[in-house]
Amino acid sequence: MTTAEESTADYVRLLDPAVRPNPYPLFARLREAGPFRIGTAPVVVVTSHADCTAVLRDPRVSVDRSLAKLQLGSMPIYDAAKTTAAQAKPSFLFLDPPDHTRLRRLVSKAFTPRVVQRLEPRITEIVDDILDKRSAAGTFDAVTEFAYPLPVTVICELLGVPLADEAQLSHWSSLLARTLDPTSRQATEFRADPAQVQRAGTELSTYFERLTEHRRATPGPDLLSELIAAEDAGDMLTHEELISTCALLLVAGHETTVNLIANATLALLRRPDELAALRANPERAQAIVEETLRFDPPVQLIPRIAADDLTVGDIDIRRGDLVVMLIAAAQRDPAVFTDPDRFDPSRDNRHLAFGLGAHFCLGAPLARLEARVALTRFAHRVEAPRLITDPPVYREHVNLRGPAHMPLEFSAIL
Ligand code: HEM
Repeated sequence: MTTAEESTADYVRLLDPAVRPNPYPLFARLREAGPFRIGTAPVVVVTSHADCTAVLRDPRVSVDRSLAKLQLGSMPIYDAAKTTAAQAKPSFLFLDPPDHTRLRRLVSKAFTPRVVQRLEPRITEIVDDILDKRSAAGTFDAVTEFAYPLPVTVICELLGVPLADEAQLSHWSSLLARTLDPTSRQATEFRADPAQVQRAGTELSTYFERLTEHRRATPGPDLLSELIAAEDAGDMLTHEELISTCALLLVAGHETTVNLIANATLALLRRPDELAALRANPERAQAIVEETLRFDPPVQLIPRIAADDLTVGDIDIRRGDLVVMLIAAAQRDPAVFTDPDRFDPSRDNRHLAFGLGAHFCLGAPLARLEARVALTRFAHRVEAPRLITDPPVYREHVNLRGPAHMPLEFSAIL
């Protein structure tokens, strides 16, 4: 039986880069101990599948961080965000209805399964181009030279952002993604430099200010031009909301699907039988994507703020408490998943990797399609791939989990 102090220490250990190659034994301990409060702080950690599901569906929880009792500088364990320019005008990820409903609706039609499905030929073309570029060498980095370029090219094309600006955008995006990580007073060395993060937020906003001016003069067939038209049409969205929506989509497109593709590629490279089965039957790709989302999720935790008092298990959550749902723990909950530590694409998969309810991931159909095409083409075209180092080196991010590099050898690219 773990004590509350031990559980708090375990939670802080999640921040330690040494845990990154395999945080799942730690998540298992946290799940067995949950739900629990972090000391006397207004922070509750929720870990089981049933509890995470219940909280995500509970109308008494909010995404509005201004309701949290913890403020920057006084947050003992979770002082995410609040540091960025975008935080001054939060994106709709951090808004409740009616603003959330209005802003999400404006962009949702670009991400419906039907609209996204039309992108399959272009996505296949991008993946094949990426692999064509790799065919001369006998090695490549499956993150930077395979998983990364696809989602980034797609989101830039969708938004109408020049690909030439990509390196700069990637730098800002990566820093901003650190604001989604928990932090702790006990482990400040793992914290991203707040000044640098703040600057990234300001610079990304300024970038979109400039691009908006440019697109206003020369509209294109892209989402940014559509949002500008909506802004010009009247009271649909303000200029600040336009900028924060663009920033949200850019960061979401940069920091998540790359990890899904990389985590799935890693799972396949570690299981040659699965890779061979996928090569023989491309229909298996979707189930491999779903199992990766459960087994090694690109988003490991989801935060909420209690807008009212509620109870989870034997823990009383009070208004203003931060509620941190450890999705990565919930998705290996033996109460829901048989043999949860086994990678089994054939299982009935009720994962929470895209969240649940009103904030369910808008990009889920796109992420699923990109990952399915990437894995199918990888299995079909890359002959005898082999990891050079296992485990790979992970990115420093805690919440958005994925390898930084994954060098592999291959005999040929067809
Ligand atoms: C929301 C995961 C890809 C756009 C979310 C949420 C999760 C998530 C867990 C819910 C957050 C919450 O409830 O607080 C993922 C994963 C992805 C992925 C695992 C890839 C594997 C994408 C992509 C886009 C995107 C490619 C779009 C370009 C969004 C947006 C929201 C969101 C806009 C906010 C929705 C709202 O607040 O209504 N995502 N995401 N995501 N995601 Fe994704």
